[in-house]
Amino acid sequence: MPNRLDLPAGFRWGVSTAAYQIEGAVEEDGRGPSVWDVFAARPGAVRDGHTGAVACDHYHRYPEDIALMRGLGLDGYRFSIAWSRVQPTGAGPVNPAGLAFYDRLVDALLEAGITPLPTLFHWDLPQALEDTGGWLDRDTAYRFAEYAAIAADRLGDRVPTWITLNEPFVHMVYGYALGTHAPGRALMLDALPTAHHQLLGHGLAAAALRERGLEVMIANNLTPVWPASSSDADLAAADAYDALHNRLFTDPLLLGRYPDLSAYGVAPDLGGCVHDGDLKLISATPLDGLGVNYYNPTRIAAPTDPGLPFAEAPIEGVPRTAFDWPVVPDGLRELLTGLRDRYGTALPPVTITENGCSTTATLDDQPRIDYLAGHLDALAEAVVQGVDVRGYFTWSLMDNLEWAEGFHQRFGLVHVDFETQKRTPKASYAWYRDVIAAQRKRSAR
Ligand code: FCB
Repeated sequence: MPNRLDLPAGFRWGVSTAAYQIEGAVEEDGRGPSVWDVFAARPGAVRDGHTGAVACDHYHRYPEDIALMRGLGLDGYRFSIAWSRVQPTGAGPVNPAGLAFYDRLVDALLEAGITPLPTLFHWDLPQALEDTGGWLDRDTAYRFAEYAAIAADRLGDRVPTWITLNEPFVHMVYGYALGTHAPGRALMLDALPTAHHQLLGHGLAAAALRERGLEVMIANNLTPVWPASSSDADLAAADAYDALHNRLFTDPLLLGRYPDLSAYGVAPDLGGCVHDGDLKLISATPLDGLGVNYYNPTRIAAPTDPGLPFAEAPIEGVPRTAFDWPVVPDGLRELLTGLRDRYGTALPPVTITENGCSTTATLDDQPRIDYLAGHLDALAEAVVQGVDVRGYFTWSLMDNLEWAEGFHQRFGLVHVDFETQKRTPKASYAWYRDVIAAQRKRSAR
């Protein structure tokens, strides 16, 4: 029941998007190519050859999109800045016209009473940096911090809180280990240095943001890990997976150390790329908030392939989204209480920075309402159980380019006709608006 959620006063409601998934205008106003432009142009890389060349045309239609956000009564909007609009080659000169777009966006959001929450990197690395090694190259971390400083110098007077990276785990696995996302490298465990270099980039950028008096967050994709059985082999495999998916990206930030991956048969010392002092850099700026992107738990069994210390096992007996992801709302409560148990006082306040589902239902999207309602109940239960959760940003405001799935997976509260760019709010839009309004009324009492 939407109006019965027991959430703290000041709880923040939002929606999330990402630049390449919505902006389009890839050749406009001096934007340089990103790895996603190059990847999407490869035959077979994205389903049906879809690309982000136009996407939701948000670059031109942002006033209409902000009007939709205003209609929801949001507190915040999480979007990402396209690095190659700001610095077309990822280094060197700034492109004023690119930066000006985010300036206009921020002003329009503030005008609508919505707090901007930008993410600096949501997977669209400038291609020029990929050409020199991308996140396999340590230098990319330093370039990232320079770009963060440029963006903060321009927008920091109006944008209080910044997210450095989006889901470094997913970017490492799909982009560099399996090659199903840009930049399309299939290096398997040799992709591990991209974890460290992204986190180093986070640490360096975090210091630059903090120097400017700004708050810092990161958005990690986290998942409760369920062993497929209580056999020793399945339990060990589940531990290894948990270390790789969850702890690898959160321990260094909150505890200043990496999990010992070699103990799980994953890899020794992240391929030797960790220099003395790096962990200090990564953890030196305490996070003002941990962004958690939650979609589903992961069930893990003993390995079947000698190259990896685990194998994924299906989760049976639960509803599934159009993407075939299992729907387990209580997994969110399990994840949040698990984080609190694992990190204790080292855990900063949490914000859910993504959660949502794709469905084939178009305007009457009851499956999405059920998904969101279940997850909000689970979130409220985690709060009752003592976890400090400060906000919830659903993925996503509108249907958009779902990476390698092209326009086929629709996650939006607002339907987008990609032929005409017509936006039509779905049933879940009205539902979310009513949840927010009811919740506000409750906490005002
Ligand atoms: C997350 C991504 C986001 C979106 C959702 C469905 O992993 O961060 O861009 O694609 O999945």
